[in-house]
Amino acid sequence: MKIHKEIGIRNQKFSDSDILKSLKKLGKLHKQFKDEDILIDLLNSDNKNIRYYSINNLAKLNNEKLLKTFENFLNKEETSNVRRETASAIGRMRSKKAVPLMTKLLKDKDPNIILQAVRGLLVFKSDNKIEKILKSLKNHPNEIVQKVINIEFFDNRKYSSKHNEFPNYLKNCIANGDVIKLLEKVDDESVHLTFTSPPYYNARDYSIYNSYNSYLKFLWKTFEEVHRITKEGRFLILNTSPIIIPRTGRKYSSIRYPIPFDIHSEMIKMGWEYVDDIVWLKPEPSAKNRVAGFNLHRKPLAYKPNCVTETLMVYRKKSNKLIDWIFKQYPEDVVKKSKIKDGYETSNVWKIDPSSDKNHSAVFPIKLCDKVINYYSFEGDLVFDPFAGSGSVGLSAIKNNRHFFLTEINKDYFKILKDKFGSNLFDDLKIGINK
Ligand SMILES: C[S@@+](CC[C@H](N)C(=O)[O-])C[C@H]1O[C@@H](n2cnc3c(N)ncnc32)[C@H](O)[C@@H]1O
Repeated sequence: MKIHKEIGIRNQKFSDSDILKSLKKLGKLHKQFKDEDILIDLLNSDNKNIRYYSINNLAKLNNEKLLKTFENFLNKEETSNVRRETASAIGRMRSKKAVPLMTKLLKDKDPNIILQAVRGLLVFKSDNKIEKILKSLKNHPNEIVQKVINIEFFDNRKYSSKHNEFPNYLKNCIANGDVIKLLEKVDDESVHLTFTSPPYYNARDYSIYNSYNSYLKFLWKTFEEVHRITKEGRFLILNTSPIIIPRTGRKYSSIRYPIPFDIHSEMIKMGWEYVDDIVWLKPEPSAKNRVAGFNLHRKPLAYKPNCVTETLMVYRKKSNKLIDWIFKQYPEDVVKKSKIKDGYETSNVWKIDPSSDKNHSAVFPIKLCDKVINYYSFEGDLVFDPFAGSGSVGLSAIKNNRHFFLTEINKDYFKILKDKFGSNLFDDLKIGINK
């Protein structure tokens, strides 16, 4: 046969690269393919790429008789990638005869193999016995195996809210009070996007907590509530950076708190999915000068760089649905209008100058809010900032044809916000009155 010539290695010595070239070129294989034995022989090659493409081609034959060959090969092959291709070949047969082998593979030490076996077995999930085997993996130590099993068998969560609407009582609403108390009055699944910068731990006069632990607990509770009021699959962009508490005397050193890192693991536990971390890069002169002392003494260990970055952690409320499910809920013209214009950020380092405000000591630059709001919401959406401060998130929301919901504890800032926006305002008692 022609194919015989295409592999072209019988009785001849060929270089690995020639063999590989032939293996990659083989394309579709027909049932009459005669060189199966050559492919099986090549499974003994020292070259892992040759072994990979041999399996890849054997899989195209969809021949149940190869099951034993695959099983023996899996037992001796050490490369994860080649073993994965083999397990995938077994699954792709979609043959009941492969079920005992796939069931055996569920006990493999490599999660990639287990996942391929799960995929293969899912074809037969209507068979009670196989369903039971798969369900028994519910608490498998590997998180991806767990996720697949949960989506397939245990996802009973009901999210009722639609994405192209939100409660009217939150439309352009600013509420004065403690965010945790205020959110008690807000319905589940109300907001599309949250962008916020929490108060600093004892770094400014408006934020006094009696310990770092109580500060973290406050943030966790807040973001648990934010999670509850966020629509399924939507985003929270959290801006924090490590802070320094200056030393209390010459005998003591200053303490640096890695806030983004300390918040993170709890965010995952409460159901946020980590998506990205964006670095907000500021010009060096805008940072506190920490390197000056080192500049004079140059002694190792006492090196302290100027901190010119802040982190924007991008989280998504966990969902088993793909982003497409959200796109489909918006009218086409809204999706079209919301498309992001040329000149968008292509890397996760955003160079933006800080802003200042005569009334507030830590404000977001509007340019930063514009980017976050445009990249992570649609026109007409409701954007929330639990720590509104000077209201930059609200201003940017309006500028970008979105709506805002802001909460702010400080009465003076609230008064300034009222003057600035002067629209549909609620105080802490009235929130929810229009429900
Ligand atoms: C870092 S500032 C946010 C500044 C804001 N991003 C801006 O652009 O103006 C944090 C704000 O959170 C407010 N805040 C602190 N604790 C709060 C709480 N429990 N509830 C609501 N707001 C709070 C503070 O008064 C402060 O204005």
